[in-house]
Amino acid sequence: MKTMLEPVAVPAGPNGHDTVVVIDFGAQYSQLIARRVRECKVYCELWPYTTPVEALKRRGAKGVILSGGPASVYSDGAPSYPAEVFELGIPVLGICYGMQLMTKALGGDVRPAEKREFGKALLKVKSFDDLFKGLEHTREEGLACWMSHGDRVESPPPGFETLASSENSPVAAMRSKDRRLYGVQFHPEVVHTPQGMDIFRNFLLDICGCRPTWTMESFIEASVRRIREQVGTGRVVCGLSGGVDSSVAATLVHRAVGDQLTTIFVDHGLLRKGEAEQVSRTFGERFGERFVRVDARERFLSRLKGVADPEKKRKIIGEEFIRVFEEEARKLGDVRFLVQGTVYPDVIESGFGASATIKSHHNVGGLPERMKFELIEPLRYLFKDEVRAVGKELGLPDEIVWRQPFPGPGLAIRVIGPVDAERLEIEREADAIVVEEISKADTERAVWQYFAVLTDTRSVGVMGDERTYGFVVAVRAVASTDGMTADWSRLPYDVLQRIASRIMNEIPQVNRVVYDISSKPPSTIEWE
Ligand code: XMP
Repeated sequence: MKTMLEPVAVPAGPNGHDTVVVIDFGAQYSQLIARRVRECKVYCELWPYTTPVEALKRRGAKGVILSGGPASVYSDGAPSYPAEVFELGIPVLGICYGMQLMTKALGGDVRPAEKREFGKALLKVKSFDDLFKGLEHTREEGLACWMSHGDRVESPPPGFETLASSENSPVAAMRSKDRRLYGVQFHPEVVHTPQGMDIFRNFLLDICGCRPTWTMESFIEASVRRIREQVGTGRVVCGLSGGVDSSVAATLVHRAVGDQLTTIFVDHGLLRKGEAEQVSRTFGERFGERFVRVDARERFLSRLKGVADPEKKRKIIGEEFIRVFEEEARKLGDVRFLVQGTVYPDVIESGFGASATIKSHHNVGGLPERMKFELIEPLRYLFKDEVRAVGKELGLPDEIVWRQPFPGPGLAIRVIGPVDAERLEIEREADAIVVEEISKADTERAVWQYFAVLTDTRSVGVMGDERTYGFVVAVRAVASTDGMTADWSRLPYDVLQRIASRIMNEIPQVNRVVYDISSKPPSTIEWE
């Protein structure tokens, strides 16, 4: 669980939207709650539970959601929140742990349940108005929801009424209607609560009275205005990596300030097959002369010559990147602003400091301090799916909008051992086959990341009557949601078969293909 020891400043949000704040007690689902609220078109932020209550007032929050959490309200050091939150006159919805905190703070009874309730449950709802208004149900079967809790509320606080119960939870939902305080033991944010979104909508739109203004069109419009104000007539530079964040950020800033923006694409020669061309085509067309492609392929290869240690590779690539970018930015003369593709999860991770966070991503780390740029971070309020939606709205092609995560150091860390032009080419070709075959088979985008690794192992093979001694290529395909943990994908045998035979047929230097069946942990997704 994340703990935030220092109280933090009130983050500034985008103006003009009614805001709901999720107070995060370390639940696995906290970010999901915030995303669901935004899907209801209500702007929402996730704040750590150490954020002072008065910040909610200062920020003009229209509603508060207390998240779930892994702790028990009675355990030592369990995260808590001051009870004044219930006196602000702002509607509060407690979810799971959040409901238990509300119960404890206001004098109800929370106890460990005899057995942990986990999975699907059926709710007997007492009144289908208010929080449960308009939900489809049959009286006999009840309302399907998803539970995951150890403690349970035995009796609600004085002044509250029980709104629903389930077999294992006598108080599965409760309310104090006149104080606009609500609690649910189940998780409306997960897909296994089929009408969860309706519950959120009832809370947000009816109970909190929020206006549903948070759409990507309105976001783009407001961002364009804000960027113009920030930049004035100044000049702006942006590094493009081919990734979705920098691409969307650059396109948004370009919409705001047009030719005042110059984008620099450092082609380090470590991208996948066709990627550098795709970036050049897409942005060359959009930005014309203000798109600069720097061919630094030779430069990176010579710096990487003979280097086998992955961390050294990363460091060299990161430093070289900054050097090339600086050289190009200097050539532009008087540039005041730098665009960064920071997204909301980066802001959350950094502990919500009001000041700009700089990604430790290799291709930007260190730049602002050395070159004294002012930062423009147009995506700092967006989740990844919103970044994609903005990208689509701005007309970026699917290859960029749906690009899978790709490491900054690129193929250099997928060629095990020293990188040279030949190995890089073998890796690039093998990877292209993996990408082509899996993307064709994986129409649902269930595989999160997939690629080839050129190992430094050679093995004996036979071709015709000849003995061969060739490279071993490993195929990696994983399911994950955030890269922190991952499981190997159970690809169909015929897909694996096609990949293997194509690699061995089309790349003469390779005579063996293996499939990586390691999960993370204990492995990592990448090999280096
Ligand atoms: P690992 O290998 O640590 O990877 O399980 C987790 C996710 O991070 C990506 N990755 C990187 N991204 N620079 C990056 O920008 C890096 O040096 C780097 N190393 C790993 C990896 O592709 C996966 O999505």
